[in-house]
Amino acid sequence: MTTHPNRRLLPLLPSGPHGSRSDMTCHYRCGNACDHPQPNQSANESMRDLVERSIARRSMLKTTAVGAGALVIGHSLPPGAAAVPDGVTRRMPPLSNLRFTPVAPNTRDSVTVPKGFGHHVVISWGDRVVPGAPRFNVRAQTPEAAALQFGYNCDYVGVLPLSRTRALLVVNHEYTNEELMFPAGAYDDDTIRRIAMASHGMSVVEIKRDTRTSGAWRRVAVSRTRYNRRVTASTPMRVTGPAAGHPRLRTSADPSGRVVLGTLNNCAGGMTPWGTVLTGEENFNQYFEASGTTDPRYAESYARYGITGAPGRNWKATDPRFDLTKEPHEPFRFGWVVELDPYRPGSRPRKLTMLGRFKHEGANIAVDRNGRIAAYMGDDERGDYIYKFVSRDRLNRRDSARARRHNRTLLEHGTLFVARFTGDGVDDGVYDGTGRWRRLTNDTESFVDGMSVADVLIDTRLAADRVEATRMDRPEDIEPNPVTGKVYCALTNNSQRGTTYPPDEANPLATSMVRASLDAPLTPAPGNRNGYVLEITEDEDRPVARDFRWKLFLVCGDPDAPETYFAGYPKDKVSPISCPDNVAFDPEGNLWISTDGNALGSNDGLFRVPVRGPERGHVKQFLTVPVGAETCGPLITRDGRAVFVAAQHPGETDGSTFESPASTWPHTHDFPRPSVVVAYRP
Ligand code: FEO
Ligand code: CA
Ligand code: CA
Repeated sequence: MTTHPNRRLLPLLPSGPHGSRSDMTCHYRCGNACDHPQPNQSANESMRDLVERSIARRSMLKTTAVGAGALVIGHSLPPGAAAVPDGVTRRMPPLSNLRFTPVAPNTRDSVTVPKGFGHHVVISWGDRVVPGAPRFNVRAQTPEAAALQFGYNCDYVGVLPLSRTRALLVVNHEYTNEELMFPAGAYDDDTIRRIAMASHGMSVVEIKRDTRTSGAWRRVAVSRTRYNRRVTASTPMRVTGPAAGHPRLRTSADPSGRVVLGTLNNCAGGMTPWGTVLTGEENFNQYFEASGTTDPRYAESYARYGITGAPGRNWKATDPRFDLTKEPHEPFRFGWVVELDPYRPGSRPRKLTMLGRFKHEGANIAVDRNGRIAAYMGDDERGDYIYKFVSRDRLNRRDSARARRHNRTLLEHGTLFVARFTGDGVDDGVYDGTGRWRRLTNDTESFVDGMSVADVLIDTRLAADRVEATRMDRPEDIEPNPVTGKVYCALTNNSQRGTTYPPDEANPLATSMVRASLDAPLTPAPGNRNGYVLEITEDEDRPVARDFRWKLFLVCGDPDAPETYFAGYPKDKVSPISCPDNVAFDPEGNLWISTDGNALGSNDGLFRVPVRGPERGHVKQFLTVPVGAETCGPLITRDGRAVFVAAQHPGETDGSTFESPASTWPHTHDFPRPSVVVAYRP
């Protein structure tokens, strides 16, 4: 093994305002997206404009959203699979009903849960996933071993039932941080890149109940499961939907345009009613660099997606398909929603072109009373959009091979929409209004002048610009509530509001109150630093609706800050919350929010907030993650007794290295290991 003489593998670039997230996180995760020209140069109205102008249950019979409470159909599960016998349920109230003392903001290098709760690590970076995987040794990593072990930087967490006591944990591995993964000088550059490629992707891991009387789960021994699987940046995937085989998806290695190697930067995701997982390819642009000139035909598209060709991870030196000069079409093969069937370990993942191409955060499904499904999706970039797909066909609820085959085609035929929001004025004292889902294309007909169906699906951002969609402040997770049918979207932050956009007195988020540290006073900072949570009510509560009403459910931040709003709940009783990112629901329909980039001096966390009744808006912090980490997942089990979170990028603070880590969590070694945690009532 040759040594690597230069410890700083990827020099950190000077960076602009990144909120409170470290420069290191911004560099590795999204390629410093904030420092690039704003990709959305359209004149479309922004959510900021709307807020400026407007400052200021339904039953499961009608709608089914897929989440903790949903039944996975089509996999011959026993009735009540992954549920708990009634007696146990009565002794152990679900998390949705449990009273707990909120976890205080803190900067501990640990996962902190409320008094009376337990938690433990389920699986960490490097743990064995697939038979044949060697025991993790950070000084003897190989690409082959990494492709069999748990990948780096766990993000989305799905839990799909196998039986009453067993389930499949499905986890995304969003990106790698070479500064924290590799001891200085231990590996050559090519080996580092190949290990990094193998540490991206996804893991499927069978888990089992720890005991019948607690909510705890453990992983099943690798030798005792047939489901465990790794997906990497090299796993073959099938392209489906109307853009499959399009000339712009063809490369020298794949003249068919239908087989892509790997999935990249997988962020959030969702579970489908037919028992598959949808995962979003987010900041895929950063993996593509140019050794020379780039194809001028694609200049507009590249620019709109932040594909600059600038130096980055230098993957092109290991695999020339990441060189734009040699393979100008390769980036068109990323930026999709990918569907993985964890129940079929040998099945080929599918890239779903009908759901459009952008920086997909994730995709989550609701089923209309007429059986058609809607998939909600956010494009996580400053000034980008919220999308919805509505299927042409209806869900087949039968348990048969034919039904499964049918349901797997639902995301290939239908209509793709983008959201346009309109404020209703400030006099009502609420940030709210109406909205419209504007048509972009269906699988046979485009509704955007001058763009074909494939054009709209490959350059979805450019298509959405033309129908005057509303520019949002980084739409992250958007999920339908399985109990109420309302849809919730985390809008993380936009630190450049107030600079790129002139502040407006009517917009409370043009300036935000932040803390430099936990003990520091609140001080004003330009921009929307703490984010908000948007609540969408579809017309007649129908996921297939074209019109909706919207409301800012939360304006996040410190409750002492004048701009914050917690759905009207008394502010002296709520936990501070900053930078909402992922959302989930428990079986009672309470909203759970994980955060990324706390601007109030605390580690990131997980919060529970009821969305209806007298407790609506009562935000309480349930958990915090270690130093430098963000809280991902989260997932509340169907019985409501356990919550899974991914503690992503622990120790990722500026100046941190493998040898000088800011965190050593989960304290199995003297360096940090991104890990999935389960928290529960013992
Ligand atoms: Fe990977 Fe939008 O967070
Ligand atoms: Ca209003
Ligand atoms: Ca996210």
